[in-house]
Amino acid sequence: MSGHRSRGTLAIAMVVLLIALNLKECNSEDTCAFDMDPPNVTCSNVTTKPFLPNSFLGLVAGTEFTNVDENVDPSGATYNVTKGRDGDLFLPGHTPVTLFVKDICQNVATCLFYVENTLTELPVNCPDLNRNVSTDVDKATYTFNPDFGADDVTKSASGYRYHGGGVSVNLTLGGSPLGSSVSIGTHDVVALIYDDVLNKTCTGIYIITDNVNPVVACPADFTSDTLTVSFSADVTDNVDPAPALTYDPVGPGSVFPLGPTTVTVTATDSSSNKHSCSFTVTVTESTTTSNQGNSVGSSGESSGEDADSDDEDSSGSNES
Ligand SMILES: *[C@@H]1O[C@H](CO)[C@@H](O)[C@H](O)[C@H]1NC(C)=O
Ligand SMILES: *[C@@H]1O[C@H](CO)[C@@H](O)[C@H](O)[C@H]1NC(C)=O
Ligand SMILES: *[C@@H]1O[C@H](CO)[C@@H](O)[C@H](O)[C@H]1NC(C)=O
Ligand SMILES: *[C@@H]1O[C@H](CO)[C@@H](O)[C@H](O)[C@H]1NC(C)=O
Ligand SMILES: *[C@@H]1O[C@H](CO)[C@@H](O)[C@H](O)[C@H]1NC(C)=O
Ligand SMILES: *[C@@H]1O[C@H](CO)[C@@H](O)[C@H](O)[C@H]1NC(C)=O
Repeated sequence: MSGHRSRGTLAIAMVVLLIALNLKECNSEDTCAFDMDPPNVTCSNVTTKPFLPNSFLGLVAGTEFTNVDENVDPSGATYNVTKGRDGDLFLPGHTPVTLFVKDICQNVATCLFYVENTLTELPVNCPDLNRNVSTDVDKATYTFNPDFGADDVTKSASGYRYHGGGVSVNLTLGGSPLGSSVSIGTHDVVALIYDDVLNKTCTGIYIITDNVNPVVACPADFTSDTLTVSFSADVTDNVDPAPALTYDPVGPGSVFPLGPTTVTVTATDSSSNKHSCSFTVTVTESTTTSNQGNSVGSSGESSGEDADSDDEDSSGSNES
C-alpha cells in the first residue's frame, strides 16, 4: 500500500520538477508554443527620392511599413526585402519588392509593394554648347572637334548612379559626327548624353566664320609709254574662288596721268575679309595710243624696249 503511494508521489514530484525546469529554461519557446501567427504587416508603395532617383535603400519601420505582432517586443522582428538592400539600381517605372517580416517565434509575413522611379530622362545638366569658330587655317571648312565630352557631364541629381556604370556623349554638328569638315554658316550642335537606360539631348548653335584674309599680289612697279594702262593682280582665298578687287585711284584699262601713280588693289572675299597691295605706274611723256600690258610675273618682260625702266626690286608692298 505504502509502496503504491510513494511511487505515485514520486511521479507527481517528477512532473512538477519537469514543468518547473521547463518553465525556467525554455521560457520563450514556451511562449512561442502559443504564437503560431505571423505578424500583421502593411506596407506602402515608395517613390524614390529626388536626390536618390534610381536607388532605394529600404523601408523605414513605422512610416513606410507597420508590423503588429502578438509578441510585445517588436525589436524581435527582422525584415528583409527582395531588392534594394544592397544598393541595387531601380529602372524607371514600378519595380515589385517583397518585404519579409519574421517575428521572434520565426513566424514570417510578407508584404508586396512597388518602388517607383519617376525619371524619364537622364538627370544631367545641359552644357552651353554655343560656339563661334573659324574655318581651319587655309581651309574653307571647320573640323568639328568639340571641347565637351563624357568627362564634362555633370549630374543634376547628386545620388543618381549611371546604369551600366558610366555616361557617354555623342555629338554631331549639322548632323555630322566628330572630325567632320563643316562648311561656313550656322549649324545646330546636338549632344546625346546617355547611359545604358536613360538619355538626354542637349543642343546649341555653332557659327562657323571665315576669318582668313584673301591674298592679293600686285605687279612690280613699271613704266608705261601709253596713257591707257593695263595690268592685273593675282588673288587667292581659302573660300572665295573670286574675291572682288577694287583699285584706288583707278583700275586697269583706265587713263593714267603723266608721271608716277601709286595704285592700291584691295581684295575682299565673300566674308568681307580684305587684303591690299600697292604698286607704282609711271607714265612717260612720249605717249602713244597703244597699251602696254603688265601683270604679275610678266611685268618685267612684257615690253622688251622698256626693260630698263622697270624697277626690278620694287615688288608690290602688301598691306592687310
Ligand atoms: C502600388 O503600385 C502598384 C503598381 O503601380 C499599383 O498597382 C498599386 O495599386 C499600388 N498600391 C497602392 C496602395 O497605391
Ligand atoms: C492580425 O490580423 C488578423 C486578421 O485581420 C486579426 O484577427 C489579428 O487580431 C491581428 N493580430 C494582431 C496582433 O493585430
Ligand atoms: C535578404 O534577402 C536576400 C534575397 O532576397 C537574401 O539573399 C539575403 O540573405 C537576405 N538577408 C537577410 C539578412 O535575411
Ligand atoms: C557668337 O556671335 C554672335 C554674333 O554673331 C553672338 O550673338 C553670340 O553671342 C556669340 N556666341 C558665342 C558663344 O560667343
Ligand atoms: C554613338 O555614336 C557611336 C559612334 O558614332 C555609335 O556607334 C552609337 O550607336 C551612338 N550611340 C547612340 C546612343 O546614338
Ligand atoms: C532616348 O530616350 C528616349 C526615351 O527613353 C528613347 O525613346 C530614345 O530612343 C532614346 N534615344 C536614343 C538615341 O537612345
